[in-house]
Amino acid sequence: MTAFPDRRLRRLRTTAAHRRLFAEHDLTPRRLILPVFVKEGIAQAQPIASMPGVEQHPLDGLADVVDEAARAGIGGIMLFGVPAVRDAVGSGATSPDGILNRAITVARDAAQGRLTVQADLCLDEFTDHGHCGVLDDRGRVDNDATLAVYGRMAVAQARAGADVLGLSGMMDGQVVAVRHALDEAGHTDVVLLAYAAKYASAFYGPFRDAVESTLDGDRRTYQLDPANGREGLREADTDVAEGADIVMVKPAGPYLDVLARVADASPVPVWAYQVSGEYALIEHAAAAGLIDRDRAIGETLVGIRRAGADAILTYWAVEVAQRLARGEDLT
Ligand code: PBG
Repeated sequence: MTAFPDRRLRRLRTTAAHRRLFAEHDLTPRRLILPVFVKEGIAQAQPIASMPGVEQHPLDGLADVVDEAARAGIGGIMLFGVPAVRDAVGSGATSPDGILNRAITVARDAAQGRLTVQADLCLDEFTDHGHCGVLDDRGRVDNDATLAVYGRMAVAQARAGADVLGLSGMMDGQVVAVRHALDEAGHTDVVLLAYAAKYASAFYGPFRDAVESTLDGDRRTYQLDPANGREGLREADTDVAEGADIVMVKPAGPYLDVLARVADASPVPVWAYQVSGEYALIEHAAAAGLIDRDRAIGETLVGIRRAGADAILTYWAVEVAQRLARGEDLT
């Protein structure tokens, strides 16, 4: 019998100092992006029942949120608007007075270049039917008619002062349509983040509360089937060919295989969105005493990094950045 194992993989795990030295992947505040909900017509921040710890903010409170995020050193904020009134074509999305466009300007002024201001580019918060696009006369989401609206929405967001536009509607051709509309209007520097592999996911449930979605039905004719990995790669490849500056995989946790494959193949930065349901699962499980909340948060985020995300949208962005600044071990 040979007395000793040839490989002692435990050696590098001997002490906390060893483990800190040999960790292969890190989180850093600059790689985190905070999604922020801004609601029209409220005076005080409102809690979102399905997402404990996350609030809808009044426009007046947004500058403070941005300032705290900037002081925490995160890379950006992603703004979502919750309008007071909705209509069939999502007029609030293209109007300069729409809540999201006003929020972009407030955030840009508060940020003063300390972080990037990003905006969701999609119609679902602004339409009374809750779909991500406009409908044809048979009630189906009309791809090409929607592209024209996205182009106008993009120009409004760029004029308001957004640095990055998050194209989350999953219409075919949306990246090239938006790029052309922006270039024609002279906004050649606005960065396009394509939600390339966005799956039709049950994990968006709490978000629909957060934006008070009116959707009756589902998004399966435009978002990806959870069974399809290769098609996620094809979406990313298509968006890069259309001119996307960044591609994203969403949700993150249930799609780490897709994320890893996109990250291997992508010539552009790859981001991941840890969505509302991923957030809510941990918060509710921790509140029930089932899980160590802080370690679970760290583990999911470092897992998303390990799979290949260059940056991560997460509702814990500021909290995690603050933990990192204190030198805490996240896992
Ligand atoms: C579309 C959009 C959605 C999310 C981000 N952008 C909702 C959807 O597609 O149904 C979900 C984000 C989350 O669940 O945290 N505007």
